[in-house]
Amino acid sequence: MLPEGLKFASRFDNVTGSAIREIFKVLAKPNMISFAGGNPSVDALPDEVCARLAKQVLENDGKRILQYGATEGYPPFLESLIQYLNKTYAFPADKSTVLPTTGSTAGMELVCKAMLNPGDTVLVESPTFLGNMQTLKLYQANLVPIASDDEGVIPEEVEKAAKEHHPKLFYVIPNFQNPSGRTLSAERRKAIAQLAKKYGFLVLEDDPYRDLRYEGQHLPTIKEFDEDGYVVYMGSFSKIVSPGLRVGYLVAQQDILRKCAIGKQGTDLHTPNLNQAIVDQFLRQDLLAPHIQSILPGYQQKMEAMLRELESFPEGTRYTRPEGGLFLFVEMPEGFNATELFNEAVEQGVAYVPGTFFYPDGGHHNTLRLNFSNSTMEQIHVGMTKLKELFAKNMK
Ligand SMILES: Cc1ncc(COP(=O)(O)O)c(C=O)c1O
Repeated sequence: MLPEGLKFASRFDNVTGSAIREIFKVLAKPNMISFAGGNPSVDALPDEVCARLAKQVLENDGKRILQYGATEGYPPFLESLIQYLNKTYAFPADKSTVLPTTGSTAGMELVCKAMLNPGDTVLVESPTFLGNMQTLKLYQANLVPIASDDEGVIPEEVEKAAKEHHPKLFYVIPNFQNPSGRTLSAERRKAIAQLAKKYGFLVLEDDPYRDLRYEGQHLPTIKEFDEDGYVVYMGSFSKIVSPGLRVGYLVAQQDILRKCAIGKQGTDLHTPNLNQAIVDQFLRQDLLAPHIQSILPGYQQKMEAMLRELESFPEGTRYTRPEGGLFLFVEMPEGFNATELFNEAVEQGVAYVPGTFFYPDGGHHNTLRLNFSNSTMEQIHVGMTKLKELFAKNMK
């Protein structure tokens, strides 16, 4: 309860805490097996390398690192980031179009700050990442869900919604989507870039999982089909180096980027120099690619183990078979209620995220998201066996 006379901003009227953050609170139970979060495996966190790099950068550039820095980024990191982007992607990247951010979560906030007025329409995939859906709600966006199939979001549906709702933004996760695990086909990426120009909306391409690809080839980003500045690309080192370092970036047309940088002055002034300097060394010392290569086999093995367990789930269970990322999305038969069963699953020592939280308009209680990266092979077997039994008992 607020002290008498005080009142919260109306932007919070339709916003509760992130469901996953609430779920985290019940995970403290000892021996809990959690398929709920989106955390990298602890084995994949390069603590020893980071300790060495932190010491190195503080010895070499400590005074600059410990001083206030530029909103536009710690200069050596900005330089190596631009070089990395130009080596990896076909879209142009330079100092006027790249902004380091405090995780891509902060990048999302900055784009909302730069572009959205209360009541503006934003198209979102259905389902989509609930964390960023919450940010959109805090900016009082009117969310319009867009249907997907196995190739990701459907461009014809985007076009229909563009005609009807005149959106300001389209928020989309192209690779191994959170929560569905789906990947948007190359043709659809191109179609979406074309629709953005045709109807005059900004595409916010959120791509934290691209490098966690276990099979198949990398696809071009939506931004690589964008010649006129209608796509903002949002990257992150959270899933491939460390989420705790909070280092991500935006690549955007220069006027959009400038507005984001002005917005960032009031958000966090700048992303911590030390964290940028550590990621800078990952890039400069060519540590990133081998680190990613070292974590992929373990993740793939865990994903395949979880998929094998799903094969013996009750008849009618459907699930995605992603080519990468951290999540499987499960659709139980109609009438099954994964939301209601969540508490019972937790009592039995296993947690997932009910799928309903990822849908802009709720419902879909027969769905759930499973993370495999943060459990051991043994935990995957034990946890999935418990879920299988619980689900079988609760089939209608
Ligand atoms: C789709 C998506 N976007 C953004 C994020 C947040 O990433 P960051 O740690 O870079 O803020 C996540 C984290 O789970 C995510 O799944």
